[in-house]
Amino acid sequence: MTPEPRAKLMAARAASRCWRQGRLAHRFDAAMPDTPARPDAPLLLPANQMPKRGKIGSDRSRIAMLHALAHIEFVAIDLAFDLIGRFGSAFPQGFVDDWMQVGAEEAMHFALLDRRLRQLGSFYGQLPAHDGLWQAASETAQDAMARLAIVPMVLEARALDITPSTIARFESIGDIVSARMLRRIMTDEIRHVAAGTRWFEHAAKREALTPANHYQILVKRHFRGSLKPPFNDSARRQAGLTLDFYGALAQ
Ligand SMILES: [Fe+2]
Ligand SMILES: [Fe+2]
Repeated sequence: MTPEPRAKLMAARAASRCWRQGRLAHRFDAAMPDTPARPDAPLLLPANQMPKRGKIGSDRSRIAMLHALAHIEFVAIDLAFDLIGRFGSAFPQGFVDDWMQVGAEEAMHFALLDRRLRQLGSFYGQLPAHDGLWQAASETAQDAMARLAIVPMVLEARALDITPSTIARFESIGDIVSARMLRRIMTDEIRHVAAGTRWFEHAAKREALTPANHYQILVKRHFRGSLKPPFNDSARRQAGLTLDFYGALAQ
């Protein structure tokens, strides 16, 4: 419910800290908003109306890339806390432990990227951002397993596939600072995918479902794109997301 980036990231850190210190109850009686509060900027546009990023290697394209990543992290803060508030009651404490930590890490990722943008003379909000990221959350607002399947186990896993080539692009233009930042973020993201997979398996066991099978059913039902190879199989495997989950869904 906090729109401004700075305030949202402080709120995320505070919530995570209060939980860790035992100052929050394991109680879930606050209704989650359908859509999180958003700041006036960035302007949100449909993906197909996003401006071109400019020539690879130009400052403009580098800033556009970092800005797009900052937006993903900004939305990821809300995704983590929405997961807790909406579905926490169906899981043990450890679920909240994990996603509180994820929420704080997404806030930190956002802060790193926004700081990098400022070093380059920009800031989060200067460019438009695409407005599709919350769709996956709306689409899965009724079903914890669907949410876990789509958000950490499809979208965040997709980031594991793409990030190594983004890192290579920053390195190729000599931007070692951004490359190093993305490498650090990726290490955290592997753990986010791992948490998603672990809690998905926990829920599957409780419902006597076969995890990989049920994952495929949910992805077909709730995710409109197809899963596009090449996959970062080793990073996915580190997160416990093995080929038997996504292999059959690859297009
Ligand atoms: Fe992140
Ligand atoms: Fe994440």
